[in-house]
Amino acid sequence: MSAIYKHPKLTDYFRKSGVTAAMPRAEIGSIIRPYEGGQVLQFPHLDFGIDHEFWAGLKTDDIARLKKLSSSPSPDDPSHDPVLDRRLAEANVPGGLKRKLRREITRLYERALPVYEALFSGYRFTRRQVVWRLNTIHNENMHVDTYVEPFEDHFARLFINLDDQPRIWMTSWTLDQMYAQFGSHLSRELVYASQPNDLHTAINATTFGGRSTVWWDKQPRHVAYFDPGAVWAVDSRQVSHQIFYGRRAVSIDFFVDRDSMWKPKRHYLHTAVRFRSRTLKGPKTVPVAG
Ligand SMILES: [Fe+2]
Repeated sequence: MSAIYKHPKLTDYFRKSGVTAAMPRAEIGSIIRPYEGGQVLQFPHLDFGIDHEFWAGLKTDDIARLKKLSSSPSPDDPSHDPVLDRRLAEANVPGGLKRKLRREITRLYERALPVYEALFSGYRFTRRQVVWRLNTIHNENMHVDTYVEPFEDHFARLFINLDDQPRIWMTSWTLDQMYAQFGSHLSRELVYASQPNDLHTAINATTFGGRSTVWWDKQPRHVAYFDPGAVWAVDSRQVSHQIFYGRRAVSIDFFVDRDSMWKPKRHYLHTAVRFRSRTLKGPKTVPVAG
């Protein structure tokens, strides 16, 4: 049973769902409202029958390109996945291991993808991306996800712990709370000159220290032990998080047409747009375009 240790200074955004893998798809309610609302949704009754021994025993240190595998299963046949085929070929995975990996991956797709699509029903998927995270992670910095380039698409993110050890996360403020509490530390000039995507990077740095070597910030955190097989959904662009310890996991990260969101204004870039316009409404110490 996964365990969450909650910090009293932080919002309790953890919620549990009773969904099971055996439920008919039509009975699985969509989670897009609470997901966009910044909740971390746990599914303690979802059991995908994962072979934890296989995943935990994968020696990814010996095959560097196996540490992170992109995949894009076809909607009609999840065993058809040219992206994964290419990645496995590039990684030079020996034939026997490759066949076993392909089998385990397809088995999980067959069980998990119908549930995933039901949980996120209402969303129009534009790209079916799955990332197999087979690297061992210690002490990431606390952050909301930011990127070099902005993503116009929303994403629907579900994590599954494949390992036989817990995946330990810490989580802290939501993106809205970060701007509300620490936004005034950003100079007006910086806010004026920055694109929304870059503002997220700036607010990460102001709140938590920013760089991957800086993990000793002083912000409060919840601690989550996601047990082997645990399944959880969270918009990691909206809820700050750090992997404290984790081995083998998969994230199903389908891209979503922003117009199909329950509230397109919950798109991650829009939070920065709102903050920027609020900030620039004040006394004009720098020129404001338009
Ligand atoms: Fe992240």
